Amino acid sequence: MAQRSQTLRTLLSADQISARVGELADQVADVYAGQEIALVPILLGSVIFVADLIRRLPLDMAIHMCGLSSYRGRATRPGELSWTLPPPDDLAGRHVLVVDDILDTGATLERVVRAIGGQQPASLRSCVLLARRGARVEPDFFGFRIGDGFVVGYGLDYGDRFRNLPYIAVIEP
Ligand code: IMP
Ligand code: MG
Repeated sequence: MAQRSQTLRTLLSADQISARVGELADQVADVYAGQEIALVPILLGSVIFVADLIRRLPLDMAIHMCGLSSYRGRATRPGELSWTLPPPDDLAGRHVLVVDDILDTGATLERVVRAIGGQQPASLRSCVLLARRGARVEPDFFGFRIGDGFVVGYGLDYGDRFRNLPYIAVIEP
């Protein structure tokens, strides 16, 4: 079992997150006004974010899921990516919005976009809560731009812990 002694420094409070998720939902709703979307959250880190986002999206939607593991439960370097749950295969002609918790290097999002893009969706966009400065891909929508530092809370974990924090914190090295 992981030791319980990490020091956490609050980066984004629950109120800040809530306010920003509302703004983000407004942006997304404007872009897709009148269209039905197919949401594809990437498990597991995005579940809290997507649950809050969808309740503020006044759009018709179907919710799917996919899962990618980078063999990185802890704050180590990214490893090889493998599907824990492949994306749905019925996305042709649909307006697909991929949702993730954090865009770090961008490898995860690139992989999902490549897999879904091959199905010829009508449109394909991405929405992440956190976007690391200097990532190699840009999301279509993002909540906050952040710098280096391993973050936890609001769905993000460190060795499977801290997903349930209602705020986002940086683990002090
Ligand atoms: P990427 O493939 O490098 O963009 O990494 C994306 C995935 O790595 C995210 O979906 C997260 O699950 C995980 N990840 C990256 N950085 C962090 C972090 O600071 N805290 C928790 N998880 C992270
Ligand atoms: Mg993830």
